[in-house]
Amino acid sequence: MTDRVGFIGLGIMGRSMAANILRAGFPLTVWNRTAERTAPLAAAGAQVAANPAELAAASDIVITCVSDTPDVEEVILGPQGVIHGARPGSLVVDMSTISPEATRRIAAALAERGVDMLDAPVSGGSEGAAKGTLSIMVGGKAEALQRALPVLRALGQRITHVGDHGAGQTVKLVNQVIVVGNCLAMCEGLLLAQAGGVDLHKALEAVSAGAAGSWMLSQRGPQILARDWRPGFTVALQQKDLRLVLEAADQLGVPLPGTSLIFQLYRTLEARGLGGDGNHALIKALEALAGFEVGAGRASGGDRAP
Ligand SMILES: NC(=O)c1ccc[n+]([C@@H]2O[C@H](COP(=O)([O-])OP(=O)(O)OC[C@H]3O[C@@H](n4cnc5c(N)ncnc54)[C@H](OP(=O)(O)O)[C@@H]3O)[C@@H](O)[C@H]2O)c1
Repeated sequence: MTDRVGFIGLGIMGRSMAANILRAGFPLTVWNRTAERTAPLAAAGAQVAANPAELAAASDIVITCVSDTPDVEEVILGPQGVIHGARPGSLVVDMSTISPEATRRIAAALAERGVDMLDAPVSGGSEGAAKGTLSIMVGGKAEALQRALPVLRALGQRITHVGDHGAGQTVKLVNQVIVVGNCLAMCEGLLLAQAGGVDLHKALEAVSAGAAGSWMLSQRGPQILARDWRPGFTVALQQKDLRLVLEAADQLGVPLPGTSLIFQLYRTLEARGLGGDGNHALIKALEALAGFEVGAGRASGGDRAP
């Protein structure tokens, strides 16, 4: 029998992911803190629950995709949380990016009620969520993953079981170290291209096709050239992830000098009230240091007086 799915958190990621689950033919119930955001899914055929507990009572598999660790704790363990409605034998799949340690605590609390949990954070951005091409890194029991697979296949192309509870979140933090490193490299490269007076679109086209190519460069490079700061992933959430990374690195005694620097650069954007911009707005922090903007018609390096 087809599992009934519940989806909590219809933000930039969740609204597309929930739509893909519905499109794949699963009976779907949704809940979102800001109720209006459920309207498009309700129009597409989803049921709307009054709270997470009610959603869990109507579902065999509950998926959460909310912002941060306290938010996942709230929707799963809070007074109207999933834990109060979930039947023994049901499964919770958390696809938010949160603390690996908190994930293990939440999994233990659910296990006491006979409810299994997977941590299944994702990478691939809002574009990957819309197209159903996310990379999903899964922590938890293999049997639980087997059960969730048909639903996860509606969301992602690469689904990797990386270990026990919390391991998915640890791998997601690894992902974020590499993502922000890519982002900084892209921003520094574009700054140099601007100063060097080359055609920025041609520069992007050329380097995207070589060893410097990356998801970040092809998705966010053109956005920077267009000075389009609409978020696929906000600076505020990026900083939430970097805090999780630096906390884990601190606990494990691992030096991450590059990531620490990028965290500080993003902090200058938060201080300027730019937390709602997309994470590619990192370039604004570098532009403030350089004294010029990318794509703003600055005279090329060759044109400058000696
Ligand atoms: N965007 C990306 O590219 C991306 C990629 C990979 C992973 N992620 C991760 O996916 C998760 C969601 O990201 P997003 O970009 O979709 O964020 P978003 O657009 O800001 O949406 C956040 C969602 O969480 C809900 N929420 C937040 N706090 C809550 C609380 N205390 N109780 C109930 N609901 C709460 C929000 O409800 P309201 O509508 O009421 O605000 C909204 O539905 C985050 O953990 C993020 O790190 C994002």
